[in-house]
Amino acid sequence: NSVPILTIDGPSGSGKGTIARRVADQLGWHLLDSGALYRLVAYSAGRRGLDPADQAAHERVAEQLDVRFGLAPDGGEQIWLEGEEVSKAIRTEQVGEGASRVGAMPGVRAALLERQRAFARAPGLVADGRDMGTVVFPSATLKIYLTASAEERARRRYNQLKDKGLDANLAALSLDIAERDRRDASRPIAPLKPADDALIVDSTSMTIDAVLARVLELAAARF
Ligand code: C5P
Repeated sequence: NSVPILTIDGPSGSGKGTIARRVADQLGWHLLDSGALYRLVAYSAGRRGLDPADQAAHERVAEQLDVRFGLAPDGGEQIWLEGEEVSKAIRTEQVGEGASRVGAMPGVRAALLERQRAFARAPGLVADGRDMGTVVFPSATLKIYLTASAEERARRRYNQLKDKGLDANLAALSLDIAERDRRDASRPIAPLKPADDALIVDSTSMTIDAVLARVLELAAARF
């Protein structure tokens, strides 16, 4: 299909979630937060008490995921899982860890593939994740790989969690981020890596506004 698609991939804490949302707002396009889908599978599996090693059971959860994305009156994100608002519950480090584990299951990735592609609707889509440019939307018009040093990403995650009133420990977060990077980059299926035709943006010493301006400039040149 010919819907314009902008993919933003990168590691945790690179700022891609914030950037993807703001770019989608600016362009008036749809947003796919693919990490939320993996988080929802992990969260739902945890609540059902699934055996973490039972891939077939996780695949069924992914296939049957009853999820609705919406906007709160204040413009914040709302995510409904089986009628329950879980946007905050799925942002914990524990659910992030779970998402990284279920993301390594081929059956789960396959089950989520068409669901993700269905987000590509007019007037356009901004897709945020790890494999948006490499696997889910390989023919996207513009692919950005947003990265930052591990130290800077740990610091941002720490501030983000604190802002949300969640508990956080910087040293523990640094270790978690390094471990999740390693797992996301080394898994055999859809590993985290830039697409061959991705433009790399290193946000280590950039403000969010500077990154946003850079991405909008790249988009204006391409769309
Ligand atoms: O981006 P977010 O931190 O919400 O992603 C949580 C986890 O979900 C990631 O660490 C990654 O393992 C997994 N994920 C994935 N593929 C995506 C998006 C997220 O495997 N497209």
